[in-house]
Amino acid sequence: MAGSFYITTPIYYVNAKPHLGHAYTTIAADVINRFYGMRETDRFFLTGTDEHGDKIVAAAEKENLSPRVYVDRISRLFKELWPELNVQHDFFIRTTDKEHIAVVKAILKKIYDSGDIYFSEYEGLYCFGCERFYMERELVNGKCPDHEKEPELIKESNYFFRMSKYQDWLIQHIQTHPDFIRPERYRNEVLAFLREPLEDLCISRPKSRLKWGITLPFDDNYVTYVWFDALVNYISALGYPDGPAFQKYWPAAQHIVAKDILKPHGIYWPIMLKAAGVKPYEHLNVHGYWNVDDSKMSKTIGNVVDPLKMKAEYGLDAFRYFLMREMVFGLDSGFSETALVQRINSDLANDLGNLFSRVIAMAHKYFDGRVPEVDAETDKDFQFGLEDVARRAVDEFEAAMEMFAFHKALMAVWELISQMNKYIDVTAPWELAKKKSSRKQLQAVIYSLLEGLRVISGLVYPIMPDTAKTMQTHLGQDPGAAFYLIKKLRQWRLMPAGTLLPKGITLFPRIDVKKKELPEIQVLEAERNFPELKPEITIDLLAQIDLRVGTVLSVETIPKAKKLLKLEIDLGEKRVIVAGIAENYRPEEITGKQVIVVANLKPVKLMGVLSMGMLLAANDGKGPVVVVPDRSVLAGTPLS
Ligand code: MSP
Repeated sequence: MAGSFYITTPIYYVNAKPHLGHAYTTIAADVINRFYGMRETDRFFLTGTDEHGDKIVAAAEKENLSPRVYVDRISRLFKELWPELNVQHDFFIRTTDKEHIAVVKAILKKIYDSGDIYFSEYEGLYCFGCERFYMERELVNGKCPDHEKEPELIKESNYFFRMSKYQDWLIQHIQTHPDFIRPERYRNEVLAFLREPLEDLCISRPKSRLKWGITLPFDDNYVTYVWFDALVNYISALGYPDGPAFQKYWPAAQHIVAKDILKPHGIYWPIMLKAAGVKPYEHLNVHGYWNVDDSKMSKTIGNVVDPLKMKAEYGLDAFRYFLMREMVFGLDSGFSETALVQRINSDLANDLGNLFSRVIAMAHKYFDGRVPEVDAETDKDFQFGLEDVARRAVDEFEAAMEMFAFHKALMAVWELISQMNKYIDVTAPWELAKKKSSRKQLQAVIYSLLEGLRVISGLVYPIMPDTAKTMQTHLGQDPGAAFYLIKKLRQWRLMPAGTLLPKGITLFPRIDVKKKELPEIQVLEAERNFPELKPEITIDLLAQIDLRVGTVLSVETIPKAKKLLKLEIDLGEKRVIVAGIAENYRPEEITGKQVIVVANLKPVKLMGVLSMGMLLAANDGKGPVVVVPDRSVLAGTPLS
C-alpha cells in the first residue's frame, strides 16, 4: 500500500530518567511504524526530548549543573535507550536544536503578525509544577490536582494566544472528523471540555522569572511557554515550512500520547496549527497509564520500572510483547513482574514456543528437516481451511493495528496459533506417519503447518522483531528479506519444497516462578471478603430497575464533601447525579466517560445537591471502580 505515514511520540521531559511509561509509548510507536512497513507505506518516525522550562531548571539546580550540561546528559539517556529497545526512529529531536528554535520563532511571528497574539496584564493562580495558570474550578480543594499544592497568585504582563477565537472551529473539526481523537472516550473528554468557554493561552514567561527558553521574536524580555515551544517539534522536525519531509509527511501525521497530555495535544496544538495556517494532524491516539503493583509509578514509592532491567531479566521481545498484549490501548493497566512471567509462560513459551518447536521437530522426524513437497489436490483436502484461517488472522490483525488495538491484533494471532494446535490434534500427523499410503497427507499437513508458522512470524514481527527473524531462520528463510510484508502474509504456499530447516530451538524458555520468588497470581481468599449472596429474585423484580447508559458531561467537586462529586450526565435528558467517588476519581478522569446509571431511583439530596439517580460501581475494598460500557453507545440507551 502506498501513501505516507508519520508517527510521533511525545518529546519527553529531561527532568528524570526514562522509565516504563516512556518505553511503552515509544515501543507502541515503533510497533505501529513497523506495521506500516509491512504495508510498504513511506513512513517517518519521530521521538525526542523537551528541554526548556522551569521543571528542567529546577532539576538541573538540584544536581548542581547548568541547564545546558544537565539537558545534554539526560537527553543522551533517552537517545541511547531506544536502540536498546529495538526502536527504529528516523529522527531524534531536541527542543534545544537550533533548527527547532528557528521554527518556533517563525510560527510565533506568523501568529503575532496575524493578530492572534496580544499583550495583556493577568492575575491568576499559577502552579509552578505544571507551569500554567489554573482556573478556580479546575482546582481540587483549592489545590492543583497533579501536584496537590496550592497554586500561587501572581500578577504579570504577558503575551496571550487567542485560542478562544478558534473554539467553534475546533468543535466543528472534531465533530466532522469522528476519529480525530481516539479512542472515543478521549474525544468525548475534549468535547466536554470545549463545552465551557475556552480561555486564551498565556504563551510567554518574563525573563526575570525564567531564562531557560526560546526568546519571543517580538519581545526580548520574554521566553516562550514550554508547551508552545514543545508542540512545534512535530513540524520543525520535518523542516517546516519548505523541507521535503514536511511536504511529504504532513498532514499524514499521527501522534501517540498518554491521557496526561490530552489537553495540549487535543486543544492547543490543533488551534496553533490552524492559527499558523497549517492543516491539522490526522489522528491523536491516546493511551492510558501504567500503574505498578496497583499504585502510580513514583520515585518516592520506589516502584519505577526500568525498561533495561526488564530486558536483561526477561528478554526484550517478551517485554515488548507483554506491553502490547496487556494494555488495552486507551485504558489504564497494571504492571507487575508476576503478570509478565505469567504471559511469558503461557502465551510465549506454551502457545507460540511449543507450536513452533513441535512443527519443526515433526518436519525433522518425517522429512529429514526439509520442507516437504505438496501435491495440490491433497493439500486442498488436507489443510482443513487452515489457509483461510490464516488469512482471516491477517485481516483481523490489520484492522486492529490500524486502530492501535494492539491487544486485539495479538489476540487474532493467538487465535491462529490455537487453531493450528487444534489442526495438529485433528490430523494427528503421528498416525499418518505410520502408514505409507498416507504419505501425501502427511506432507500436506506438515507443509500447511510450516506455512502457518511463516504467517505467524510475519504477524509477530512488529511486536517481536528479533523473534520473527529467529523464526524465519528456523523456517529456512532469509531473515534479512522483507518476509513480513502483508501481501506475502496473505499468500499461501510460498515456501519452496526442499528448503532445509535448521534444527529446532526453544523460542522462549519457561520461567520458574518459584526461583524468581515472585508471588503467584492468585487472589488470596482472605482478600475476597465479600458479603454473602443476597436472596434470589425474579426477573420481574429486576425489570423494575431502569438501568441506562449515560455520558458524563461535566464534573464538579462539592465544597466540604470530600467523597462526593457532582456529575452532570446526559441520559437522553440532562441529569445531575451525586456520586461517592471523589477519593478515587479526579473530575477530569470521569468527564466524557460513559457510565451506567440507575435512572429510576428516588431522588435524594446529598450535601445540598439533589441527586437524580445513582452510578454503578464495583467496590473491592480499595474504593469504587466505576462500571463503563465496552463500547460507546447513544446516551440514554437502556440495559436489558
Ligand atoms: N514534555 C511533555 C510532552 C511534550 S510533547 C509535545 C511531557 N513529557 S513527559 O516526560 O512527562 O512524558 C509524558 C508521556 O510519557 C506520557 O504522555 C506518556 O507517553 C509517557 N508516560 C509517562 N508515564 C507514563 C505511565 N505511567 N504510563 C504510560 N505512559 C506514561 O509530558
